[in-house]
Amino acid sequence: MINVDEILSKLTLEEKIKIVVGVGMPGLLSNPQSRVAGVAGETHPVPRLGLQSAILADGPAGLRINPVRENDKNTYYVTAFPVAVMLASTWNRELLEEVGKAMGEEVREYGVDILLAPAMNIHRNPLCGRNFEYYSEDPLLSGEMAAAFVKGVQSQRVGACPKHFAANNQETNRMSVDTIVSERALREIYLRGFEIAVKKSKPWTIMSAYNKLNGTYCSQNRWLLTKVLREEWGFEGFVMTDWYAGIDPVEQLKAGNDLIMPGKVNQVNPFRKDEIGEITEAVKEGKLSEEVLNECVRNILKVLVNSPSFQNYKYSNTPDLEAHAKIAYKAGVEGAVLLKNEKVLPIDKGAKIAVFGTGQIETIKGGTGSGDTHPRYTIFILEAMRKLGLKVDEELAASYENYIKRMRETEDYKPVQHPWGFLVYPKLSEDFLSEQEIKKLAQRNDLAVIVISRISGEGDDRKAVKGDFYLSDDELKLIQKIAEEFHKAGKKVVVLLNIGSPIEMISWRDFVDGILLIWQAGQETGRIAADLLTGEVNPSGKLPTTFPKDYSDVPSWNFPGEPKDNPDTVIYEEDIYIGYRYYDTFGVEPAYEFGYGLFYTKFQYSDLKVSLDGESVKISYSITNIGERSGKEISQVYVKSPKGKIGKPLQELKAFHKTKLLNPQDREEILIEVPLRDLASFDKEEWVLEKGEYEVRVGASSKDIRLKATFVLNKERRFLP
Ligand code: BGC
Repeated sequence: MINVDEILSKLTLEEKIKIVVGVGMPGLLSNPQSRVAGVAGETHPVPRLGLQSAILADGPAGLRINPVRENDKNTYYVTAFPVAVMLASTWNRELLEEVGKAMGEEVREYGVDILLAPAMNIHRNPLCGRNFEYYSEDPLLSGEMAAAFVKGVQSQRVGACPKHFAANNQETNRMSVDTIVSERALREIYLRGFEIAVKKSKPWTIMSAYNKLNGTYCSQNRWLLTKVLREEWGFEGFVMTDWYAGIDPVEQLKAGNDLIMPGKVNQVNPFRKDEIGEITEAVKEGKLSEEVLNECVRNILKVLVNSPSFQNYKYSNTPDLEAHAKIAYKAGVEGAVLLKNEKVLPIDKGAKIAVFGTGQIETIKGGTGSGDTHPRYTIFILEAMRKLGLKVDEELAASYENYIKRMRETEDYKPVQHPWGFLVYPKLSEDFLSEQEIKKLAQRNDLAVIVISRISGEGDDRKAVKGDFYLSDDELKLIQKIAEEFHKAGKKVVVLLNIGSPIEMISWRDFVDGILLIWQAGQETGRIAADLLTGEVNPSGKLPTTFPKDYSDVPSWNFPGEPKDNPDTVIYEEDIYIGYRYYDTFGVEPAYEFGYGLFYTKFQYSDLKVSLDGESVKISYSITNIGERSGKEISQVYVKSPKGKIGKPLQELKAFHKTKLLNPQDREEILIEVPLRDLASFDKEEWVLEKGEYEVRVGASSKDIRLKATFVLNKERRFLP
């Protein structure tokens, strides 16, 4: 066992400074590629003392490394799992742990030490370009998903890294924008998920965010990184910056940001010196005490001594990709959300299907940026339907294949290389079939399936315009024409949504009979879609985020800040009223509410009992499958607080439960305990729980409340942070 204090006593000042700064972005400019090509960063080794460099790689949907290497005939493909918002749609802690385990095994067996995931910023606004990487608009769901995922990853003896701490809820000017948030909203919403993850799963590391928080860069914010994270929550790992975040490495160390990544900021910013030089100077001039430096080094080494690299672990480069593909598939199936079903789904396996939309071929597996992955394959929707033996209209399929091929060869629609390396596919018009053609298709097929897809990614936010938050004119026309002709012929229409965050649906959902949200489900996306459509498997996901009726309904109206074209500040004026907390409290009807999702079966809720037991509330109820197919129900426990001094949302999610697979007539008894502290609100410097009558509301969604019961708190409680 390596003794950290002993190492510390042997390290020279120069070596210590190197330990707190990464080696520079591997593969960038003159930097050598890492021994695991394509990773995001590496720490400095100290060969004299036998300390290896530790390797850090992204990200939430799978390990991001290069699939091929120079002068090497082996391949290094990984599993592309469903994006985080889809994982959260499962509301299944065990499944998240299983996904984490699988990803952790790939991390370890490909020679990486720390996975830069989970990403867990709150969906403050549906246009944040990275919402697909984040779990939810609700901190409890977010924190629980993250905790389970971290446990899974770290069970493989590698580290996880919840990010981006904190309030990094937009991509616009993410490296400089000053996020102004009340302490209450921070504590109850933006920090809460991290608090749950830190306390429940003890992550090895945390990544501080790019943005400023109430005037100070997160990576230089001592209140955030030391007072809250370490002193209040008991975090014992080390904190690293996001890549090139902040402006002052000395302030970062003083604030409790132990590791500065990726190192060599001067390579990308000509106005900056390298961090090693700046820190060395500060120590020499007495502006940074060696004690502070020692503390950072100690924090880092305490974690890294357990890393595979420090342990000289002999990795195989052959993780079990077959087994992990099955887990990715299972997670996708459980995370798909059935939004509308007018007696159309599941479809008959023998039905003749006309499949529309370029997304049937150009299926989106996930978003772009550091959350991207390189799997061996991505099964596209059409391919999976064919493999399943479904009777797809091959003539129509061929028109799509030809259309896409032809268009992608033209100047305007050629895939173009993004500065970060991935390919961008300019959006094709979806309206290339004539009414006559669609009429014929409606006559010879039993059903239409239309794929609508969207992609977004790191660096840019989405826009509230046609073709992004709204359907483009050509998409809308396609849906209308198909609906008209198919309905005239007495046939039904289903839309498959292959998207990473909410889009507007009110203007078109009435045209179609069924809507299945398959999100961006990773490498198995096509198979997941095909199997769900036919009822091979049952969708059992619910929305972790609200789908508003219109963008103008969204409470974070000032996103992405002021001035609008180039914001330097974003004020969270809506405070704690984010997502359903806003829609419910202010009576704004969403298109699909938080927690919503239909199944192919029905569940009955009964026998709610609520009692106060010391410092917690005990809640029990039963769920019975009263439909004709098996399924898993996600029940949600909301609490409505009495009117008091502190303004509260109409209700807040305080617990949730996903049943095991229930066959028709099966029943499950559920017992949940919620600590009273979790019901409190942050008021000035304390958590306060006012006295009065509390209503426990058990629902199938935030609006579909099935059972209610109350308990009374006779005296106010106060809790320290
Ligand atoms: C992203 C992080 C990521 C890091 C390393 C940054 O641009 O914000 O999420 O982990 O790059 O790739």
